Amino acid sequence: MRRELVSPGAGEMTYEIRNIVNVAEKLQKCGVKINWENIGDPIVKGEVIPDWMKKIVADEAMKNESWGYCHTRGVLETREFICSITNGHGGAQITPDDIIFFNGLGDAIAKIYGCLDSGSRVLVPSPTYTTHTLAETANAGAAPICYHLRPENCWHPDVEEIRSQVVANPSVVAIMLINPDNPTGMVYPKETLEKIVAIAREFDLFIISDEVYNNIVYNGESTVPICEVVGDVPALALKGISKEFPWPGSRCGWIETYNFGKDPSFQKYVNSILTLKMNEVCSTTLPQKCLPIVMQHPQYPVYLEERTKRYEKMSNITWNFLKEVKGLQVNRTNGAFYMSVAFDKGLLNDKQSLPIDNAEVRALVEGLVNKANVSLDKRLVYYILAATGICIVPLSSFNTNLQGFRVTLLERDEKECQRIYGTLAQKIGEYLAS
Ligand SMILES: Cc1ncc(COP(=O)(O)O)c(C=O)c1O
Repeated sequence: MRRELVSPGAGEMTYEIRNIVNVAEKLQKCGVKINWENIGDPIVKGEVIPDWMKKIVADEAMKNESWGYCHTRGVLETREFICSITNGHGGAQITPDDIIFFNGLGDAIAKIYGCLDSGSRVLVPSPTYTTHTLAETANAGAAPICYHLRPENCWHPDVEEIRSQVVANPSVVAIMLINPDNPTGMVYPKETLEKIVAIAREFDLFIISDEVYNNIVYNGESTVPICEVVGDVPALALKGISKEFPWPGSRCGWIETYNFGKDPSFQKYVNSILTLKMNEVCSTTLPQKCLPIVMQHPQYPVYLEERTKRYEKMSNITWNFLKEVKGLQVNRTNGAFYMSVAFDKGLLNDKQSLPIDNAEVRALVEGLVNKANVSLDKRLVYYILAATGICIVPLSSFNTNLQGFRVTLLERDEKECQRIYGTLAQKIGEYLAS
């Protein structure tokens, strides 16, 4: 090519949640039976969508208008419905014009960061869901500016660190948080959210709150959506049906804009997101039309409660096994369906391994772990995968220097969950002792 097509470092951005699948698929071909504990898609893990929900979708699919484009911002009746459920709690109020639908939150995230001036930075958690950091750093062309979620404090952030990062980095224009969190399963207490809002108010920042798991909270915990504490601070709340219905294949997510009119720069920024959206029309008409009907169905809260209770049970099983392994920092999760585990510093080294009987599988894994710059947690993850078939994700691939791994809590069969996490705990112990 006449000149470089991508910016330096672009080819190095990897998405380990998917990468590990390529390795697992190769092992599958060698006869290893895989337990997919890596990806947050309830459907892949056997979630059975109730018939009443399928019937709503089927009935809507029979209508011609479900097949067309809809208003750029999304179906008006659906946006009106969202306002009715959001405005009822005494927080910041929105109108249908404050809502924009996207092709899933992945699309929303790309536009949220892509519309910022490249010199305007968003303070992001570490560890965090990589789609946010990849989009933020790609737009800025620089390393992420982070605050830390701390395994020693149940993955809660230190609000003082958030404040000092804002002070130290005048380019920061927004604070991003995920509540409940992916990858840690931590749920932000209301007081922490209030303190973050206070920092945003003090330094004239806006907030990006990814709330895709907002209705998946358990273990007696509670949290609030950002609109309930945001007051007059500009904010974007990200919501969707991928995890909640769950219907990830619908590619249907939306942003709610709070305090749009309070700041001219924020107004200009949100308008630029909308303009970008207008270039490609809005096409998720069918799921949008289904949304109010599903959410108002008498069985919806019952189904959500049943699933949430199930995640609570799996969370506790997983926690009970992993917390017994010496050297792991394990926290019980209170929301979403992921658990992140960090190793005590210095516990992993590049000599540790697990015995692998199948010579072909062993050769494959040794080839992978002996490559240059393979992180120590990736090494562990590959050995666990080859020795047990359990597919987990290295924690270091979630924008963090911590070494560890993330698992999902989506296994439906309690006995199988016991077997998987009993095996995982045992094999990690053997790996560490090797
Ligand atoms: C925190 C978070 N935000 C957004 C998404 C993406 O959601 P969508 O399916 O709407 O693109 C995910 C998916 O795993 C997620 O974990």
